[in-house]
Amino acid sequence: MKSVVVFGSLNMDLVTRCDRFPQPGETLVGRDFTTVPGGKGANQAVAAARLGVPTDLIGRVGQDDMGRSLLANLQQAGVGCQGVAVDRDSSSGVAAIAVDGRGENQIVIVPGANGRVDTTDLQRLATYLPQAGVLLLQLEVPLPAVVSAAQMARDLGVRVMLDPAPAQALPADLLPLLHCITPNQVEAEQLVGFPVGDRASAQRAGEVLVERGVAIAIVKLGRQGAIAVTTDQVWVQPAFSVPVVDTVAAGDAFNGGLATAMVQGLPLPEALRWATAIAALSVAQPGAQPSMPTRSTVEAFLADPPPTIQSLA
Ligand code: RIB
Repeated sequence: MKSVVVFGSLNMDLVTRCDRFPQPGETLVGRDFTTVPGGKGANQAVAAARLGVPTDLIGRVGQDDMGRSLLANLQQAGVGCQGVAVDRDSSSGVAAIAVDGRGENQIVIVPGANGRVDTTDLQRLATYLPQAGVLLLQLEVPLPAVVSAAQMARDLGVRVMLDPAPAQALPADLLPLLHCITPNQVEAEQLVGFPVGDRASAQRAGEVLVERGVAIAIVKLGRQGAIAVTTDQVWVQPAFSVPVVDTVAAGDAFNGGLATAMVQGLPLPEALRWATAIAALSVAQPGAQPSMPTRSTVEAFLADPPPTIQSLA
């Protein structure tokens, strides 16, 4: 089987749970605090590896306890970490995360070693691409490295998936390199420059991204599901109705799951359902990487799925 290769970030998540988010200038008493392995790149790698697809991560951690802990956790999850360098001149990336009583989150990241990813990391990436079915990218490492990674994969005929998070403007020459882009509502708005919130606007956003050269644009709308747009078709996948404990890394679960579906050659509607199930299972558990489900859990969920939320239909 071809592998999923992830070129991206590793963070230690510093997670506070509170009943509600504080106002500017306000101090709140939280309910609990945990440190949890995270980072969009690492989360997506764990999601793919837990689903039984060979997965390698290329990135950087600092030479510190957090970096050692992040690597140990990834190895335990079955992610190949030979491509993760230890940067002696930087601390590991961290994310300060608040999760409110409804499971919604606010995140501030400090990139640390992730922000120093450069051409030396691309050299390591090059050794993994020949075995790859999909290259998964996000935007928590510097954009020039992301663009170069996409070009390298494209030159080898490897499909490139970009999760454009955190939201930022993208160079026009990046989009034609992408097989698939998966913005959430905020990221889609940033990319297309108009409000996105319902089916019509999400479809229009997808159409704009396809016009700019992406083969498949998938707009993730949380409880409203996801909508996929290609040059000639549109698919709507409603979300599953599940109790929400913690939405951190739900998008990462979706992307990791989607990558495994693509490696295995699932048709797009089935891949969307598969990825949506993985995201639903992830929000029912706390934390980023600990919330990623195994293949058997996903198969059991889809064999007897809960009702879907039909708000996009
Ligand atoms: O997508 C969730 C992730 O965003 C967290 O794990 C945090 O590290 C930030 O990168």
